[in-house]
Amino acid sequence: MASFYLAVLLIALTPCRLEAVEDIVRFDCYPDDGATQQLCEARGCAWEETQNPKAPKCFYWAPYGYRMDGNIRDTALGSSVTLRRLNTPARYVNSADVDPVTLDVEMHTAKRLRIKFYDGDNQRFEVRDKMPHIPAATGKAPSQEYIVSFRQSGPTSAFALRVTRTATRAALWDTSVGGLTFSDQFLQISTKLPSSYVYGFGEHERDNYRHNMDWRTWGMFTRDEAPGPPSNGVNKNLYGMHPFYLCVEDDGKAHGVLLLNSNAMEVALQPTPAMTFRTIGGVLDFYMFLGDGPEDVVRQYTEFVGRPFMPPYWGLGFQLCKWGYGSLDVVKDVVKEMQDFNIPHDVQYGDIDYMERQMDFTIDPVNYQGLPEFVDQIRRDGMRYVIILDPAITTNETEPYPPYTNGTELDVWIKNGDDTSQPLIGKVWPYYPGVTVDPDAEWDYKVENYNAYSVFPDYFHADIDRWWGNFIKDFYNTLKFDGLWIDMNEPTNFVHGSVNGCSNNKWDNPPYLPKILGPNIYSKTLCMNSEHGGTKHYNTHSLYGWSQAEPTQKALREVTGKRGIVFGRSTFPSAGHFEGHWLGDNTAKWDHLHKSIIGMLDFGLFGMPYVGADICGFFFDSQPDLCQRWMELGAYYPFSRNHNWVLGAPQHPTHWDGAIADAARDSLQTRYTFLPYLYTLFYQAHTQGSTVVRSLMHEFIEDKHTWSIDRQFLWGPALLISPVLDQGAMDVTAYFPKARWYDYYSVNSERQGREVADAGQGRSLSLPCDMDCIPVHIRGGHVIPTQGHANTTVYSRRKPLGLIVALDEAGEASGSLFWDDGEDIDTVGSNSYRMITFSVTATTLDITVERDGYTPDPELHYETIQVFGSPAMPTDVTVNGQNAMDNIVKKTADKVWHLEGLSLSMAEDHKITWTLPDNNASGAEVSRARPVALLLAAMAVVLANVNGHVFT
Ligand code: NOJ
Repeated sequence: MASFYLAVLLIALTPCRLEAVEDIVRFDCYPDDGATQQLCEARGCAWEETQNPKAPKCFYWAPYGYRMDGNIRDTALGSSVTLRRLNTPARYVNSADVDPVTLDVEMHTAKRLRIKFYDGDNQRFEVRDKMPHIPAATGKAPSQEYIVSFRQSGPTSAFALRVTRTATRAALWDTSVGGLTFSDQFLQISTKLPSSYVYGFGEHERDNYRHNMDWRTWGMFTRDEAPGPPSNGVNKNLYGMHPFYLCVEDDGKAHGVLLLNSNAMEVALQPTPAMTFRTIGGVLDFYMFLGDGPEDVVRQYTEFVGRPFMPPYWGLGFQLCKWGYGSLDVVKDVVKEMQDFNIPHDVQYGDIDYMERQMDFTIDPVNYQGLPEFVDQIRRDGMRYVIILDPAITTNETEPYPPYTNGTELDVWIKNGDDTSQPLIGKVWPYYPGVTVDPDAEWDYKVENYNAYSVFPDYFHADIDRWWGNFIKDFYNTLKFDGLWIDMNEPTNFVHGSVNGCSNNKWDNPPYLPKILGPNIYSKTLCMNSEHGGTKHYNTHSLYGWSQAEPTQKALREVTGKRGIVFGRSTFPSAGHFEGHWLGDNTAKWDHLHKSIIGMLDFGLFGMPYVGADICGFFFDSQPDLCQRWMELGAYYPFSRNHNWVLGAPQHPTHWDGAIADAARDSLQTRYTFLPYLYTLFYQAHTQGSTVVRSLMHEFIEDKHTWSIDRQFLWGPALLISPVLDQGAMDVTAYFPKARWYDYYSVNSERQGREVADAGQGRSLSLPCDMDCIPVHIRGGHVIPTQGHANTTVYSRRKPLGLIVALDEAGEASGSLFWDDGEDIDTVGSNSYRMITFSVTATTLDITVERDGYTPDPELHYETIQVFGSPAMPTDVTVNGQNAMDNIVKKTADKVWHLEGLSLSMAEDHKITWTLPDNNASGAEVSRARPVALLLAAMAVVLANVNGHVFT
């Protein structure tokens, strides 16, 4: 890397090019359409044909950007530098250059720094100002694990910045490539990267979790867009915007970078490896997180943006939805069928068809008559009900519609930029009242002729709680919902911009349009010159859904007095603090099984672990084999919901023949068995920011093979899920990193607990897997708390508990269990929970109550302890000092035994000991060395560092 850096420097020092310029050192100087040699050279850039048609022909050559003006100044948080434009032609003639630009480097912690380029007079929009929940840094960290150095500009070079990891000397960032541009509507910076293992940026559909660095550009701007392949060469920008990436350095260290900017942007990746950020507004506000490894990066990231919210226990149960059930009678039938088939079902939904003509805070008086009573009934049975709410509010009702009239009184609507005394008017769902609709008419005809005018609430408005919160409160008096699903909040608009289009202004026609779907920036949404959140929608557009989450969560908690679920379609960094997310309108096709794993991994990185895709697919009719495989996979989505669209055939698990219902029941029962473990993972995410669905590389960073795996995933550190993702496949190739792994295919399987042969060194195995199976393996070294399953979590939470003790090479294992009442608000903050740890060393299992802030049901007890990987059957077992040989059962799988019929109270500590036959005493023959731990310890050396150096 160092030699590459030198090479680039030498090239930069060379005034004329004598040889062809290699693609990988080219940084695109003409990302807009229509580049020609003449236009390129007019910009002061070089033009040359390329070997790879994806590489730019027009690239930076002469020094470009800014120079340092004066000295580096010390500040309370780090250092500051003034940058002045170099005397070169302006990059974008019609987007004024900002001069001077201030660069602040803030050293927040030993592992977190902020790099912020902003206008000298501080007039530009900053996302950070909209995020009061993020505490401000209070001082410069006394020591840092990074060095920030600046390159002075001279006649042959421009200012550049480099961030180096002190311990390894890896250059995490080096901006001495491309050219820093900071103009009003075009801001760009390029950096070389220490490796080409890059993950993140969203929201997009991708073929792989790991980014392809072969000249790919990803636009980011929130949009109502269904996941799908690129359209006209543009990778689709979907609902959320997450300008955050993870990069794994070649030695397995990892760091993450957030660009806290909400303007339409793109990031261009190239094989150098390098990336270029291009945004069209705001400031360049970067936060860098130097983890030890990927998991640590996510912890640091969520420490900054806000830890994920804690879902209620029932939110981990299975959820069922359909847009267009048509009537309450159909919903009742579906709920009854699920009960008759004995399939777990915690949550039933109301999509927009429960409303009267899709209007918020109403109930269809004909088709959903009796809905409140039905909801009361299913809630008494232990189920929950979640309703959808959309932001747009119709204006044309002939009967009083209080959400509109009251919102108008409070003046909470986004304003028309051409006349700010008026709200911006668009169109979303409802038709005009009383209109006769031709059902066969085309979509555009319907929108034009039948859809009513709508206004859009400004969720930044000071009175938003008085409006949105109060309507949620009032509606709760009618219908006892448990969660709120906030949809259409990109925000979507069925007409482009407004009912009158958009005027010709600099926000709606910016000089540069990043690679987002068009044809223009306001397509499918609001005019960018509208007034929203005290600024132009141009700046706050991608914050719309995010800004709706907090007031919705607040209102839900206030009205229910409980910890419900809020999940939204359009998200932004820190959304996971307030809400979960589903992956939007996917399609009932096979590749969307794989893509759902990539999506979950992405959102795990973004600090939003409560995530899942529409099981069985949203668009088109699902097929029995697809839906069966998807139910099996979906049982391992943290947010596990089957949902599809209004024109799709039913696809709930009981819809087809018994085989699918059986498979759904089996996988969901297994899910419910693991819920205590899953809930504990959410507690860890909430308190420490760890991931729930976890990429294998987070646990096995020393095994480079895991860095590209995205067809398998982990739940936390210990459960490996290897689903079948292809039509007709009756086996799956699964990779087992170096560890002991135990088979947990299915609750009924004879194989349960059998050790995967020869997985010790890390290898791929082909696992036979008929239509009823989904391979699940448990990693040695972990104790997994389990519980009996039931059809809702109200009942499963009363079932006997169990422990799976999966022993590692040293015959050891550990784990924990978080337990509270499952739905009170902030039980962590109020210490109203029980924390239990499990630890096996030297043939003794200790169950220890570490915290007893919550008293569990006195009936709750551990009934079964399953031991996997025992060297032999014990010759003696005691439970709390009493002989328990009567409870031991040898299982068919080798090295597996259970203690059954126990009755060990959850409220108390317990000690279980066993004796192995003499020649097997405590696995002593197995090496106790822990190579991973040793490696990590060696890597964790923290070096003192010196910052603010100048390099040339
Ligand atoms: C769009 C959402 O993405 C989808 O899940 C929902 O069913 C429809 N809107 C109708 O509300």
